[in-house]
Amino acid sequence: KKKPGETLPAEIAPAEDAPAIDTKHGAFDLDDPVLPAFVAERAFASGGYPYTDKLGLEPYLAALRQLQIELVKLQQTIIAEGRRLVLLFEGRDAAGKGGAIFAMRQNLNPRSARTVALPKPTPTEAGQWYFQRYIAHLPTAGEMVLFDRSWYNRAGVEKVMGFCDDDAYRCFLREAPKLEEMLIDDGIVLFKFWLEIGREMQMKQFHERRHDPLKIWKLSPIDYAALEHYDDYTEARDRMLDATDTRDSPWTIVRSNDKKRARLEIIRHVLAGVAYAGREKKVIGTADPRIIGGRSLLG
Ligand code: ADP
Ligand code: AMP
Ligand code: MLT
Repeated sequence: KKKPGETLPAEIAPAEDAPAIDTKHGAFDLDDPVLPAFVAERAFASGGYPYTDKLGLEPYLAALRQLQIELVKLQQTIIAEGRRLVLLFEGRDAAGKGGAIFAMRQNLNPRSARTVALPKPTPTEAGQWYFQRYIAHLPTAGEMVLFDRSWYNRAGVEKVMGFCDDDAYRCFLREAPKLEEMLIDDGIVLFKFWLEIGREMQMKQFHERRHDPLKIWKLSPIDYAALEHYDDYTEARDRMLDATDTRDSPWTIVRSNDKKRARLEIIRHVLAGVAYAGREKKVIGTADPRIIGGRSLLG
C-alpha cells in the first residue's frame, strides 16, 4: 500500500538485519512488514497499562492547548524572574521522550526553551569527566532546558550495551545524586521523568519506525539491540532508581503506552510544581495517579 516515493532506497534503508526474537507470546521479526497479531493485540495493555482505550485526538488537543497556554505563562515568569529549569527525560527506547519534549516546547520561545539531545561522546568527551559535556548545557537565568536523554545514559544504555565498565557505572550511581544536589542547591529546578512502555508496545513502535519512511530516522542500531534487552533495561532502571530516586531529587514515573495521556500528565506535573504568574489551578487539574507518580507506579 506504499505510494511511489515511499519506499526507502537501499542506501538509507536500515542496514541492520534484525534477528527474529522469541517471546513467551510469539516470535517477532522487526524486518517483517506484517506486525504479528500477538504484538498488535497485547501492545496497549502491555506492562500492566491501566486503560483499555486511547485518549481521543479531540479531547487531547483541547486539553493540550489549555496546558500549553499555562506553559507560555510559566516561561514568561521564568524569563522575568531569571529562574532556571531543567526537565530531564529518560525512559525506554520508543517510550516517547522526543514527542513529550515536542509537545512541551511547541508554543514556547525556542530561544529560552532549549532541547539538548547529545550524540554519543566524541573521543575528547570520552576522555573528560563524565558529567562535563552535560554541564555545558545547563540553563542560564531565564532558561528552560529539556534533556532528551541525559547523564543517565550511563545508568541505562551504557550499562546495558557495555559502553562503560562496571567501575564507571557504579561511580556514576554514587555521583549523580551529588551532582543533582549541587544543581538544586544552586537554585535550579530539576524534574526527572522516566517514561515507561510495555514490551509489546515497544515492539509495535519499533515496527512502525522500521516500516514508515517518516519515522525510519528514529530507528537506530541501539533500538535493535534494545528489543532483545528489555529485561536488562528493567534491571538497569531499577538499579538506577535505587541509587538516584532521592527525597530532594525524585524521579517521576510516567506510564506512556498512550503517548497523549503521558504528555498531558507530564505538562500538568511541571505546571503544578513551579509557581508562575497567572497560574490557573483549574486548568492544570489534578494528576492521574494511574499514569504519573512515584516509583510505586512500576509495581
Ligand atoms: P535515541 O534513542 O536517543 O534516538 P540511539 O538509540 O541512537 O538514540 O542511542 C541511544 C543513546 O545511546 C544515545 O544517547 C547515544 O548517544 C548513546 N550511545 C550510542 N552509542 C554509544 C557509545 N558507543 N557510547 C556511549 N553512548 C552511546
Ligand atoms: P521539599 O522536599 O519539598 O521539602 O524540598 C526540599 C528542597 O528541595 C527545597 O529547598 C525545595 O525548594 C527543593 N526542591 C523541591 N523540589 C525541587 C525540584 N523539583 N527542583 C529543585 N528543587 C526542588
Ligand atoms: C523516544 O521515543 O522515547 C525517543 O524520543 C526516541 C527513542 O527512544 O528511540
